[in-house]
Parts: sequence; C-alpha cells; structure tokens
Amino acid sequence: MVEVEALEHGFGLRPVLDLPSWRVGTGEHCLVVGPSGSGKSTLLHLLAGVAAPRAGTVRVAGQDLAALTPSARDRFRGRTVGLLLQTFHLLDTLNVFDNVRLARRLAGLPEDRARCREVLEALGVAEVARARPSTLSHGQAQRVALARAVVNRPPVILADEPTSSLDDESCERVAALIEAEAARHGATLVVATHDSRLHGRFERRLVLDAGGPAA
Ligand SMILES: Nc1ncnc2c1ncn2[C@@H]1O[C@H](COP(=O)(O)OP(=O)(O)OP(=O)(O)O)[C@@H](O)[C@H]1O
Ligand SMILES: [Mg+2]
Repeated sequence: MVEVEALEHGFGLRPVLDLPSWRVGTGEHCLVVGPSGSGKSTLLHLLAGVAAPRAGTVRVAGQDLAALTPSARDRFRGRTVGLLLQTFHLLDTLNVFDNVRLARRLAGLPEDRARCREVLEALGVAEVARARPSTLSHGQAQRVALARAVVNRPPVILADEPTSSLDDESCERVAALIEAEAARHGATLVVATHDSRLHGRFERRLVLDAGGPAA
C-alpha cells in the first residue's frame, strides 16, 4: 500500500505537486501519467523516500516515512520497495549478475543465485549477466535495473518510465514482467510513464497536470 495525505512539493517558488489524498491499495496497480515536467518522477522520489516532501504525509506499507531516521529509511526501502528510477545507478565495478545479487545482500536477504538468474532470464538479459553495466545498451541497462528492483519480491514496486528506451517487443516483455511480478507477490505497483503503449494497461490511473498545480 502507498498513501499520501496533503502532499505538497516544489522546487524554489515553483509548486510541482499538490495531492490532497491519494492511495494505492495492496495488490493494486496504478499508472501515473502526465506530460514531461508534471511531477511524475518527483512523486516517485517522495514515495520511495529518496526525497522528503515540503508538506504532508507519505505512508508506504503502513510506515510513515518521516518517522524514520535516514538510515532506517534506507533499510526500509531496501526491504520494502522495488525501485526503478529514470537513472539506473548500476555499479560498474560489478557485473550485471552481481549488481542484482547485491540488492539481496543490501536488504539482508540470503543469497539466491537461482532467483537472480530467473529475473534476468524473464527480462531477456541473462546473456549479459557477466557484462559490466557500462557496456550495455540503454534498454538492456533499464531491464537490469528492473531485475534488481524486483529480485527481492518487494511488497511495493515503483517504476519510473520502465519502457521509455525499449522497442515494442521489449516494452511488452517488460510491462508483462512488472505486472506478473507484482501480481505473483500481491505487490502494490506504481508506474510513472508517458509511454502511450502502457496507457491501456492498469486498472488505476493518476493524471498529473502540465506545469504542476496552479500557484
Ligand atoms: N532537483 C530539482 N531541482 C529543481 N527542479 C526540479 C528538480 N527535480 C525536478 N524539478 C522540476 O520539477 C518539475 C517536475 O519534474 P519531474 O522530473 O518530476 O517531471 P516528470 O513528470 O517526471 O517529467 P518527465 O516525463 O520528463 O520525466 C520540472 O519542472 C522539473 O524541472
Ligand atoms: Mg520523470
């Protein structure tokens, strides 16, 4: 479950988000749509607790993020949130497989190489498991970052433009995998996108306005 109340955020004098009340229940899938600059990524950053809102409350899986210290918030995110951001933050000192393995270690979960292989295969990037992230195409790196986001079977999956760099076949594969992973584990799924290929897919939708809320 993710839930916000009286949420406001902005940069400088410019308001970007104003959400009086919005909730995505356990097991629900919600698309966040809106033009470039409407605040989709900003909302996902707030839901993931990588940024703090100017005002209002963000609860994820029942936890008020503001009540956690920064290190507790990092631990909470590692265990609870599968996060795919627009920048992937893959570590180039590790190969693809070890980037995915690391997500389990950081969350304090036991080693599970079969699970790591399973998600890489499902996303069509098993053949680059030994490669360094910097040698991948953008679309491959995106799928590896998604593999890392879902490998721990998180109860909440947040994905920012997960299909933006993908051809139609990979787009279909990635969208189907995100939905299947979420459904298999009863996860709450929030996908921000302006990819019109995804627009018909989810039962719930939040539409953000161009240029943010009126000042
Ligand atoms: N760190 C920041 N500092 C200042 N302004 C920012 C920052 N991050 C985002 N913004 C501004 O906030 C607004 C919303 O940005 P955001 O990235 O959330 O939009 P978006 O809907 O995700 O766009 P896109 O579809 O292009 O990814 C934009 O006007 C952007 O310039
Ligand atoms: Mg964005």
